[in-house]
This record gives sequence, C-alpha cells and structure tokens, in this order.
Amino acid sequence: MRTQRLYLDGTWVDGTGSLADGSTRLEVRNPYDDSLVGVAAVASPEQAAAAVGAAARALRRGLPPHRRAEILRRAREEVARRAEEFAQMIRAEAGKPITAARQEVERALTTLDFAAEEARRPPGETVPLDAVPSGEGTLAFTVAQPVGVVAAITPFNFPLNLVAHKVAPALAAGCPVVLKPSERTPLTAGMLVEAFKAAELPPGWLNLVTGDPATIVGRWQEDPRVAVLTFTGSSRVGWQLKAASPYKRHILELGSATAMVIRADADLKAAVNAAVTSGFTFAGQACISLQRLYVEKAVVDEVLHRLVEAAEALPAGDPALEATVVGPLITPEATKRVRSWLDDAVRDGARIVTGGTLTDDGVLRPTVVTDVPASSPLLCEEVFGPVVSVVPVANLDEAIRAVNDSRFGLNTSIYTSDLTSALRYAREAQAGTVLVNRPPAFRADHMPYGGVKESGQGREGVKYAVEELTERKLVILGS
Ligand code: SIN
Repeated sequence: MRTQRLYLDGTWVDGTGSLADGSTRLEVRNPYDDSLVGVAAVASPEQAAAAVGAAARALRRGLPPHRRAEILRRAREEVARRAEEFAQMIRAEAGKPITAARQEVERALTTLDFAAEEARRPPGETVPLDAVPSGEGTLAFTVAQPVGVVAAITPFNFPLNLVAHKVAPALAAGCPVVLKPSERTPLTAGMLVEAFKAAELPPGWLNLVTGDPATIVGRWQEDPRVAVLTFTGSSRVGWQLKAASPYKRHILELGSATAMVIRADADLKAAVNAAVTSGFTFAGQACISLQRLYVEKAVVDEVLHRLVEAAEALPAGDPALEATVVGPLITPEATKRVRSWLDDAVRDGARIVTGGTLTDDGVLRPTVVTDVPASSPLLCEEVFGPVVSVVPVANLDEAIRAVNDSRFGLNTSIYTSDLTSALRYAREAQAGTVLVNRPPAFRADHMPYGGVKESGQGREGVKYAVEELTERKLVILGS
C-alpha cells in the first residue's frame, strides 16, 4: 500500500487539509475489488496557494531549454526503469486491464520523448515588417516565452499519460506546474513526480497537490499568479472553469459522444474491428470511445451480427488477467448510472442486443443497443461506459447530419472504400480529428488532439501544447 504526501517546492510534506466529510487523507480504492491501494494527502487551501507561490518563484528563476530537455529525458528513463510498477499502479487505481495499462506506460514514454525534443526548439520567427512602408529600416523577430504558471487538472482514465501530456509540454515550454490529479488516481501521478525528482527537476517546477478538487481548483482559479488552466475531464466542469476565470488561458480537453459511420462499400471486417476496439477497450472510458455507430441500411444486419459476435467474445472481468479487455467502471456509481441510462432507453423503445448485464464479479458486459430514441443520453451525452448504439442511416447525407447533430466533436471516423465519400466526410464532419478507415479511438501522442463545439478548445499533442503554453513576444529593432 502506498502512502503519498504532497510535493511542494521540491519537498514531500504532510497535508493539513480535510475533505468535505472531515477525513484528512484520500483513500484510493481498486475499482475491481474495492481493496485499498493507498492513501494520498489532503491539501489545505493555504497549501494549494503555497504550491502556486513555489511555481511563481521557479518561473522567476527560469530554466534554460537545454536543462529542460535533459530533465525530461532523464524523467523518461526513470519511468522506463519503473515501467511495470507504473503499469501495476494504473491497473490498481484505475481498474485498467493490465495489457492496456502497459500500453499507456509506453505512450507516456513517447510523450516524454517528444517533450524532450520540443524543449530544444522553442518556436520563433523573423517578421518582415518592411513588407509595409512604415516598417522600413526595422528588424523584427518573435521570442518564445513561457506563458507562466500552469495549473493542470487531470482525469482518472489515463492516470499517467494524460498527466504527462500536461506536465511535459509545460516544462518543455518553461512553465512551472501545479498539478491536481483525479482524486481516484493520485498515486500514479505521485510516481511521475518521483521520476521528475529523480531527474533533478529543481524545486518549484512541479508541485503535486491532492485532496478536495473544489478547494484546490477554487484557490487556483482566483490566483492571479496562475496564467493557464489546463483541464481534461467532463464538458460540464471544463466550461465552468472557463466561465469562472475568464482572464486566464484555458486548454480544455473535454467529453464527446464519439461517432463512426460505416458505408455499405466499407471493408466490414475492418470496420467492425474498429468499432469493437473503440467501443469496449477499457470499458469505453476514454473521451474518444465509440458511442454512436451510424450504419448504412444495406449492411446494418451484417454489421450488427459481427459486432455482437465480437462483443460477446471479449474477455470481461479481472484487470489483472493478461487477456482481459473490459474491466470495471471507475466506481459502482458509474456502473449504476450507465445501467440506468440503458433502462431508460429500453423503457423508451430501445433494444439491448447483447450485454447490459454484469458479470459475476460486477463488470458491465460490452453492450450493443439498437432502436435508441434520438433524445436518449446514450446518443446525446457522454456515456463513458462499454455501450455502442447502432443507428441505421439511409445514406451519407443522413449520416453526416446525424453525426453533427451533437453538442460534441472530438474524433470521428468513416469506413468506406469511396474516396469522394471520405473527402466529403473529412470536410463536413464537425470534429477535431476525422479518421478514414481508422478507429475513432485512435490517438498518437504527437498529433494535434482536441475538440470543437463543447468538446473543448486548444490542442494537445506535445508540440501543439507547447505552442499553447508559449507567448510569442515580438521584438522590433529600429536603426
Ligand atoms: C482521453 O480520454 O481524453 C484521451 C484519450 C487518449 O489519450 O487516448
């Protein structure tokens, strides 16, 4: 069992705060069997503010790009050295199947790798001011400057890689970080902080603040020394954050109701494989997990048949087993919520074709639903569970209308062998990323990643996050 303190200004310290229920430590429980994985400290409001103070002092001291790069490289080596320990912690506190947890560690190594590279190439350019008469006789260029202290708020579903996606680009850009990981998964984040400490990151550059989200984030929202709030999580919370601190910069990676289209001319085997991996891996708990599957009527029966067969063959249960693909949802309340959405949809005419029930050990089976009413949360809200709704459509026009009839737009896919359809979808689908003949849950860690509409603003993917965290100061030299 891990006992974790706060990390403030380069030192591990006890928390002096308390949670709403009066407890003075955060218990982290395994979502699969409810065993105690560890405890994390609870920060007081003063400690949340002290973290910002430490970061602000670090910002004033500065850190040259070559040292940022070297520290990121060493932190990467440290994570690589402890890779299995990280994977087991991700499994224990997030309930992520071990194979997927190991993949997440690999991805985090890539994220750190790219950040080490980006640290060495701060963006900048010369600006030809003499392209207008008033600029004659000047020399102008932009200088990359860190925007300031970054407050990073991260979710439970990728307890390592989504923390790495906030911390590593910020450090590459020269921005100190105050980090509040999800209260469900603070321990993996603490291990990443240890890796940075082992990499000799100087005090104040990364501060770990765990405890009550409202207390911590409330402090940071009000603090003028915090320049940026970078948040991955629910759409509701993300937009509330922005509304509450309009003068800060925000990077918001929020929810979605991810859609995919299968045209009648598609390679159905590949399309169904994509739907299965995108819908059910890690029990659908990613922002880009497939939720809405629009299938042209001519092939809907065949797609449903293949999808149900594949869903039923997926091993669901204990995340510690190598074969498991579908594990538990993060809390019993999450399972209850998804089941109640299914019940409501069935009451309103939907049909569960497979799944909808729990395994003996309480894991929600991969679920395929049809005849879902258009107003059901299964289509309109983010499910964050292993549920795919199949909706027949007459043609591409109808598919595009249905995909776009959503508040969200993160990743979306189309499966088709027709280039014209693919190009039209790429043009018209409202999304941050459109994939053709690739699963919607695809993400490479260096690609620009982010959403449109209520799915967020700004882009991550190391180079793009560095840009978001960099101020391009223009310098104009006259003769
Ligand atoms: C997310 O769920 O927001 C991130 C998905 C990913 O990084 O694969």
